[in-house]
Amino acid sequence: MMNWMKCCVFPLVLLCMWQLQEGAQACSCAPLHPQMAFCQADVVIKAKVVAGKVVGEFNNSIKYDIKQTKMFKGPDGHFDTIYTASNPSTCGVTLTKGVEYYITGRLNSDGTLHVSLCNYVEPWESMSVIQKKLVQRYTKGCGCQIARCTSVPCGINSPAECLWTDWLTENSVYGEQAKHFACIKRSDGSCAWYWGAASFKNGLSVY
Ligand SMILES: *[C@@H]1O[C@H](CO)[C@@H](O)[C@H](O)[C@H]1NC(C)=O
Repeated sequence: MMNWMKCCVFPLVLLCMWQLQEGAQACSCAPLHPQMAFCQADVVIKAKVVAGKVVGEFNNSIKYDIKQTKMFKGPDGHFDTIYTASNPSTCGVTLTKGVEYYITGRLNSDGTLHVSLCNYVEPWESMSVIQKKLVQRYTKGCGCQIARCTSVPCGINSPAECLWTDWLTENSVYGEQAKHFACIKRSDGSCAWYWGAASFKNGLSVY
């Protein structure tokens, strides 16, 4: 019983959350801290969804036309389209026309941009002021690793790691550490959490 609890409760909960959100069945992947999602992504942009249509030989993809409004990471130029699986059960992301999103995605070898439920994708307006500024500073933390802690005990494997405990402390995948903290390398090579607002030049009165 204990072993089962250890290994399966968290993925199950996550799966259920996606089921609620997406009406799906089978997509599951370990969530990444938004900073890790940024660091692992080939492309990070802000873009408004203009249109979407089902494409592919088996209707298995959706091609969204987008209007890119900002690039945080990626190759020169800009993206007009983004692809995802047409079904949430195969990790397809459902995007809404007219909504502007913060998107972390991967580049295919043919140069097309793809997203899945395993990437971090958020409506820009649902992000806090701190998070909006923080995403522009994530590059500084890409030399650090963020280890997700879902049950005690857990620890870090190296000083260049931060422990992500939102699941334990807030019972939520994306809590305070995900939204308002970055894991940044210190001068001695170790990594530590920094509160987003503290890294802004003029201080910040929002929180
Ligand atoms: C793809 O969708 C179109 C339009 O709904 C449909 O006519 C067609 O049969 C579908 N093709 C496949 C392979 O499911």
